[in-house]
Formats: sequence, C-alpha cells, structure tokens
Amino acid sequence: MSVIREGKVKRVLEDPSSKQHVIIEFTNFVTAGDGAKKDELEGKGRLACDITEFLLKYLSDKGIETHYVETLEGPRIRCFRAAILPVEVVCRNIAAGSFCRRYGIEKGIELDRPLVEFFLKDDDLGDPLITEEAVLRLNLVNKTDLGFMKSIALSVNHYLSELFGQQELRLVDFKLEFGKTADGRLVVADEISGDTMRIWNKEGESLDKDLFREDSGDLLSAYIGILEILRKTDPDSIPIRPETLQVIVMPKDGIKNPPGEVTKKGLIRLGFQDVKEVRVGKVFQVSLTKPLTSGLLKGLELMNIKLLTNPIAETHEVRLA
Ligand code: TMP
Ligand code: ASP
Repeated sequence: MSVIREGKVKRVLEDPSSKQHVIIEFTNFVTAGDGAKKDELEGKGRLACDITEFLLKYLSDKGIETHYVETLEGPRIRCFRAAILPVEVVCRNIAAGSFCRRYGIEKGIELDRPLVEFFLKDDDLGDPLITEEAVLRLNLVNKTDLGFMKSIALSVNHYLSELFGQQELRLVDFKLEFGKTADGRLVVADEISGDTMRIWNKEGESLDKDLFREDSGDLLSAYIGILEILRKTDPDSIPIRPETLQVIVMPKDGIKNPPGEVTKKGLIRLGFQDVKEVRVGKVFQVSLTKPLTSGLLKGLELMNIKLLTNPIAETHEVRLA
C-alpha cells in the first residue's frame, strides 16, 4: 500500500480498493512538543485506534459527520478521502496547557462556557493560535465552513462532556481537524483519543497524553482505562444538542429600499445629520432539532432560496446564533 503522508504517530495510506477512501494506520509512537519528545509504547496504536473508533462512531450516531468508515486489522481505519483544512479547532472547558502558558492562568480554572480557539496547521511555525479574522483574510477557510467548524466543535464538546461526565470524568479540552470530501461534505477528520484531548478524573488526575508530556504516569494504563470507561457508558442516554441559526436577508446594493429611506428621513429629522444611508433587511431565527451538518446546511441554502429570500433582489447570510 503506498504511503500518502507520514505523520509523527500515524500514516495515511492509499486504499487499494477505492479512490474515495484512504487508510489511516496508528503506530505505537507517542510524541510531544512537536516531536521534541518521542517514545514507542507497544499497544499504544491499537488503543488510540479503538478509542477513535468508539468516539467517531458515537459522534456519527449523534448526527455529526466524520471521515470514519470502518476499522481494519492493523490497527487501521478506513476513512473517506478528505482534503484536510489548514486550521485546527481546540475547544476548552477548563484552563490547561497552552491556554495557561499563553495567558498566565492557573491550571484547573473552569471557564464559564466552552471556548473555541483556532490554530494554524504549520509545524515549522509551531501551529500558532490564529484569529477568525485572519483565517478569513488569508482565505484559509471560508466563512460558512469556519462557522460550521465552530458549531461542530461545540456539539462535539457537548456530547463528549456528557459521555465522560456519566463516569465522573471531566473533558478538559480537545482538538479537532476537519476535512472536505470529494462530494463537498465538511467532516470531522483525524483521530480523537487521549492524544488529542485532556480528561481528568474526580481527583484531577490526567488520563491522557499529559502523562507522557509531563512524565507523570503510565500512558498505556490510562488509555486502557479510557476504553473501559467508554465501553461502560450509555451513549443513547445523551440528549441531542439543538442548534439555532439566523438567516440575515438584505436588499442588494442598488435595489431601492423604501423602508430604509423612511427611516433615514426620520433619523435626520431627529438630528442625526450624519446618517448617509439606511437599508432595512430581515432576520429569520431558525431552531433545528439537532446539530448542524453539511447536509443540513445544503438543505438550508435551498430553504433560503425557495422560501426566505428573493435571490434577484436580496442577499442572504447564515449565522450561527
Ligand atoms: P494545548 O493546550 O497544548 O493548546 O492543547 C489543547 C488540546 O489540543 C489538548 O487536548 C491537546 C490537543 N492537541 C493536539 O491534539 N495536538 C496538538 O498538536 C496540540 C498542540 C494540542
Ligand atoms: N506538540 C503536540 C503535543 O504536545 C503534538 C506532538 O508533538 O505530537 O501534543
């Protein structure tokens, strides 16, 4: 099988039976600090693969599209071929890791609500934090996909936090990668395991790669523990996270907008002489019964065009509320 990409701990291989798929192989390597610290632990690849399989299947059951297709011998998984977007998404519930180092914050402080951060995928630059504005201005990801990535990260956080919460574990933070499939779906890609998330038990002890990063315990036992815990959970008991969207409809430039003109006159009469133009649009708030997926987003685009907007005279934008 020819190698498409050799990563630090995984390999992406061509799938000899299908052009639409690739095969990801988990090795026994474990690295930290962009490869500055490296080791090989017998059985680690199998464990990371099994945890990834469990979590990607679980998210998929909740309506979140992922690249996972099936698990093969190896440890390997067959996935949809996807162009990986150059931005990683981190979601945090509790301050730890680079968040503490960056802002001088004590490890363990609970955030009042989940925080989503974006990082540029560039090993040579050390994967720096990047603002949403810079992602858009550098054309790394388009606005719709960026909003979608944030929304999916929050949904994943909801589902994983509840799942681990059932077993009195805290999901501290995690990292997601996203890919675009040949048919245009934005899917959660890569692995989700103790290598890509932080999990603490009731005593605040780590069950994840921090054990290796900080030389503070046995990584393999922790991963075996995560897998045992996951197998004890009841994924069906976790409620679906609903989603609210706003569709903002505006008259196109150059199209007359009488309500705007009336409002402008009124404002000037009241003394707001500097008002140059007012254009009145409308907002539809749409609540969905489940998280947004790229399939749903396509349906919504159709709904906008057929029902909510007049594409000849109006423009529209979908925002996640
Ligand atoms: P951080 O605190 O180092 O920024 O990491 C946040 C989360 O993202 C943590 O759960 C580990 C995960 N992560 C990766 O999976 N890969 C990486 O390269 C980095 C830097 C973090
Ligand atoms: N720097 C990252 C970490 O510490 C990833 C790595 O080096 O493989 O998790």
